[in-house]
Amino acid sequence: MSFFFFKRVLANPVRVGYIVPSSPFLTHMTARLINYSKARTLVELGPGEGCHTRRIVRSMTPDTRLLLLELDDHFVRHLTAQFAHDPRVTVVHGDAMHLSEILSRHGAAEPDYIVSGIPFTIMGRELREKLLGNIALAMGPATRIITYQTSVLISEHRHFELVRRKHCLLNVPPIHILELRKADTAASLAAVLG
Ligand SMILES: C[S@@+](CC[C@H](N)C(=O)[O-])C[C@H]1O[C@@H](n2cnc3c(N)ncnc32)[C@H](O)[C@@H]1O
Repeated sequence: MSFFFFKRVLANPVRVGYIVPSSPFLTHMTARLINYSKARTLVELGPGEGCHTRRIVRSMTPDTRLLLLELDDHFVRHLTAQFAHDPRVTVVHGDAMHLSEILSRHGAAEPDYIVSGIPFTIMGRELREKLLGNIALAMGPATRIITYQTSVLISEHRHFELVRRKHCLLNVPPIHILELRKADTAASLAAVLG
């Protein structure tokens, strides 16, 4: 599994970001931040080979749905085969840059949670700003985004407000886990739309 992941890193180092999938310690800590009794629509951005996904589906209720949005076609094929037996899971080959349209098309607008593995903090500033703006646009007032990042940079981003923050040392690399909500400011919205 890790060799498959590593081959995708070699094919696209900036997009995939880290050299190995998230550790079981990180997937455990991340999945625990979700309130499964309330969540009805979950979205995962950049699920990769599905290490967080496997943890999340184990806790999801039967009437919760999970939409996986992945840019890499090899990962998409792997995820599609892996979750073919689970009607709660939908795999979409697409770019988080178009998150609002994709969620609307799948009847998943303003989800309860967005779990994101996209390595925002190691990509170029311009791409990061566009991606974060489009993700913020797809969030409702109750949507929470849970993301694991090597820096806490985006917890201070104008589009988001920090809800809670954890740190996982037992991961390569050691990583911050951030739970954020959409900032409730006109300035933030204007920045997204502008
Ligand atoms: C750091 S890897 C995380 C993989 C997995 N979630 C894990 O924790 O091991 C980042 C993932 O995000 C995907 N990705 C990067 N940019 C994306 C985008 N704009 N839209 C959707 N997926 C993206 C990559 O293809 C890769 O699978």
